[in-house]
Amino acid sequence: MDYKAQVTNSILQALGTDDLTSAEVYQKLERPKELAMGDLAFPTFTLAKTMHKAPNMIAEELVAKIDTAAYEKVEVKGAYINFFLDKARFSNEVLTTITEEGVAYGQNDNGKGGNVPIDMSSPNIAKPISMGHLRSTVIGNSIAKILSKNGYHPIKDNHLGDWGTQFGKLIVAYKKWGNEDDVRKDPINNLVKYYVKFHVEDKEHPELDDEAREVFKKLEDGDEETTQLWEWFREESLKAFNEVYDKLGVTFDTYNGEAFYNDKMNIGIDILKDKNLLEESQGAQVVKLDKYDLNPALILKSDGATLYITRDIATAIYRDRTYKPAMNLYVVGSEQTYYFQQLKAVLLEMGLPSAENLHHIPFGLITVNGKKLSTRSGRIILLDEVLDEAIELSQKQIEEKNPNLPNKEEVAKEVGVGAIIFGDLKNERTNNIDFVLEDQLRFEGETGPYVQYSHARAESILRKANPVDFHSADKHLSDPNAWETIQILNDFPVVVESACKDFEPSEIAKYSLKLAKAFNKYYAHSKILVEDDQLAARLTLVKSVSTVLKESLNLLGVKAPDEM
Ligand code: ARG
Repeated sequence: MDYKAQVTNSILQALGTDDLTSAEVYQKLERPKELAMGDLAFPTFTLAKTMHKAPNMIAEELVAKIDTAAYEKVEVKGAYINFFLDKARFSNEVLTTITEEGVAYGQNDNGKGGNVPIDMSSPNIAKPISMGHLRSTVIGNSIAKILSKNGYHPIKDNHLGDWGTQFGKLIVAYKKWGNEDDVRKDPINNLVKYYVKFHVEDKEHPELDDEAREVFKKLEDGDEETTQLWEWFREESLKAFNEVYDKLGVTFDTYNGEAFYNDKMNIGIDILKDKNLLEESQGAQVVKLDKYDLNPALILKSDGATLYITRDIATAIYRDRTYKPAMNLYVVGSEQTYYFQQLKAVLLEMGLPSAENLHHIPFGLITVNGKKLSTRSGRIILLDEVLDEAIELSQKQIEEKNPNLPNKEEVAKEVGVGAIIFGDLKNERTNNIDFVLEDQLRFEGETGPYVQYSHARAESILRKANPVDFHSADKHLSDPNAWETIQILNDFPVVVESACKDFEPSEIAKYSLKLAKAFNKYYAHSKILVEDDQLAARLTLVKSVSTVLKESLNLLGVKAPDEM
């Protein structure tokens, strides 16, 4: 419910002039920090100039004209008019809406079903999936859920790095030093080993590079033996990636990696040629982007070989034609920001309809316990290991706190994995984060487990109470202790819209923390389960908190166990 609109109307009526527009009044309304100052405050300072009176006098005059019946009270404090909402009435409205809508509370139709391909996760074949890819995976997954909640139709596309000259190197290395059984047993680690060895050896034997180039050429031309090896590496790598995705609970709609576009590259190159956008530069073909204040984009190497951007152009055309997208999202680390500026500029020059709506969604670096992540050096921290460690830690905690919990294993997984996802998503995307695992797993503080625990606490209260029919229950809750929680519950739809507009899951995460905190404060100050005429209303509040916490976590891709 938009009670700011109600207060705005009251003020406009009392003003009776057109000194301020409705939008101006709306914008001026403040939410006071202290409950004693009311729920909304209207400052009169700016009116003093046009009305030639002292602000507090203006406030007094306006209040005299306001119809106060709709409020608990309306007071003047200095230059401010403080509005106190009718708590029982307001609570009833908020709790009724949530009870009726359930998990659909906060759903809107702003997106009108528009398709939104999300380029996300996109790890490279034959390399470990890194924490950077984790960020892309969980941020992309959450944005997809937030988009759905806002009426869009997201299409999660895993744009695997499964093509390029590095596959020539890998195949050469495998043939020289590889072993089939080893790859089957531990594909990623062994493939990385071969790749690293290639780079060591080619320093002394530069002819290896020529060999690799030839092999990649064979692959591009569809040579059977090379293709089979490539397919096998891809399959084994995907198996390893899927283990991680399973743990994270993330699925994809398509896995159209770079190789998928190998036979679709000409369409883009033809358009570039038709529009006279390609220029020769030292034998290579580039698109000049001076107009955008960007360096030229290299599209074809001098030997005609395609590049990362050539494949991305093909991808964008394919998505444009297949989905007629309302927006095109790329959840890829900040280090590729310049690259995506170039890509967008080239697509704009090409006149691709959806180029305007291409959004690169960047994010910062992540380190774990202060350690950097890399795939080349020996000291790699694998996402898989981090997840397992988190699950183990949460198992220990549950063993201490609730040893009799029936489905301990499952809950430990939901809490451990949830802690990592939440620990990532609570930060503004573009921030760099250092992950201290133990901190993220605490049941108190700004953590996923804290929100999960608050949800479980709400569920446990409901289990202890006699069953209530929430639909018919009286929801006129007037308890001032419950007020903060009610107001936060009312904010959810606005937060859902804003998180979508900003592509910012952290807004949902922060919201869930705020709601959990308010609810725990309420729980500490009020006896919920006492038998009186507000019992049903209180339980409806508890149920609503549970619903909204669960849905907030769901929008982040985090599970909400009923007991933990
Ligand atoms: N595979 C790339 C990497 O790991 C990310 C791909 C991002 N998506 C894209 N369409 N370029 O850096």
